[in-house]
Amino acid sequence: MSNPSVFSAESYFATQPPPPTLQTDVIGVRTFISKQAEQGRKVVLVTSGGTTVPLELNVVRFLDNFSAGTRGATSAEYFLKAGYAVIFMHRQFSLQPFSRHYSHSTNPFLDFLEIDSTSSRNATSEINVTPSKRPDLLQVLTAYKAVHAEGTLHTLTFVTVNDYLWLLRAVSQEMSILRRNAMYYLAAAVSDFFLPRQKMSEHKIQSGKGSLHIEMDQVPKVLKPMVAEWTREGYIVSFKLETDLSLLIPKARQALQRYGHQVVIGNDLHHRKHRVVLVYPSSLSPTSISSPASTPCFNHVPLSNLPDGTGSVEIDGILADTSAGQYTESWIEIDPSLAASGTKEIEEDIISELLRRHQSWVAAAPSAQ
Ligand code: PMT
Repeated sequence: MSNPSVFSAESYFATQPPPPTLQTDVIGVRTFISKQAEQGRKVVLVTSGGTTVPLELNVVRFLDNFSAGTRGATSAEYFLKAGYAVIFMHRQFSLQPFSRHYSHSTNPFLDFLEIDSTSSRNATSEINVTPSKRPDLLQVLTAYKAVHAEGTLHTLTFVTVNDYLWLLRAVSQEMSILRRNAMYYLAAAVSDFFLPRQKMSEHKIQSGKGSLHIEMDQVPKVLKPMVAEWTREGYIVSFKLETDLSLLIPKARQALQRYGHQVVIGNDLHHRKHRVVLVYPSSLSPTSISSPASTPCFNHVPLSNLPDGTGSVEIDGILADTSAGQYTESWIEIDPSLAASGTKEIEEDIISELLRRHQSWVAAAPSAQ
């Protein structure tokens, strides 16, 4: 490595150790994929939740990336509903499909249960579900049981950014045999900086010596090798999170230009639950595939007060060609009050749109497929 603070993906994997469970995880994924391939299902990898960056080898302190895992867990449910098999790779203890409806912080499960007083004379009391909660619970439970019976959900966990990168590479490589029938939906919030193992303190960093100075290295942008080496013609969807709305479209276009994948979904922190933008190369417009009548409606909103990101913009010191024409944007927006009340989830419309695009991608495969 000429410059130790800039890791290529190759030098990263050559110097940072794999998580101890990697081999076992890979065997599980391989078995799952071959079963789904036999049954002719498309498979989507959903990454979800934030990665941590430990500061010590015996870790007491770490930096974390913001993400509850809502986007990933919710999206996974809609993919399953659409008949996809899902590899759900998520941050340990972040939200998961189905159980997310009963998160301990927003909807504690114990509040749904009642002790049946009529049975209290027996040695064992009965437990009932509060009648008003039954319809929703029954719906979630039915879907959950069906998915388990069909074996279409495979779950993997990560904690650190190192776990995430090793797993992402291994799972992508395993999925590459599916070629265009594979989709990669990268909703995890991945750390941009990390502390290489070689620079970590073994024990808890001691206080009492004034302020703490830590120099972190940049995490390699793994989307590049993912597109070029790890996957073969898979349909790759990355996310771009910004807090400055004016950067959203230019940065999404820049990512497409740099990595050459299929879609970037831009979301801004405060409106992410009711508004996102899909940015894609104009050449991948799925105009040839018509939307089925039952497809939930998604709105291509002509938001006149939003930036269109047209022109050249300097980002991270690099002049990005963000010329309109080369890329197209589709805004998806739902009523904020419906999103806030949980009556409508924007992921339903995101997934519906991606299914159409993935279908179009599969149909456009060279005949050699
Ligand atoms: O879980 P929620 O609370 O619902 O929040 C969802 C979300 C806001 C976290 C999600 O919608 C989202 O935007 N996720 C991506 C956030 C992010 O990490 O953005 P980024 O700009 O750092 O990364 C952009 C893309 O590059 C990502 O798809 C990532 O997979 C990829 N990446 C990131 C780091 C890295 N070293 N290599 C990468 O390839």
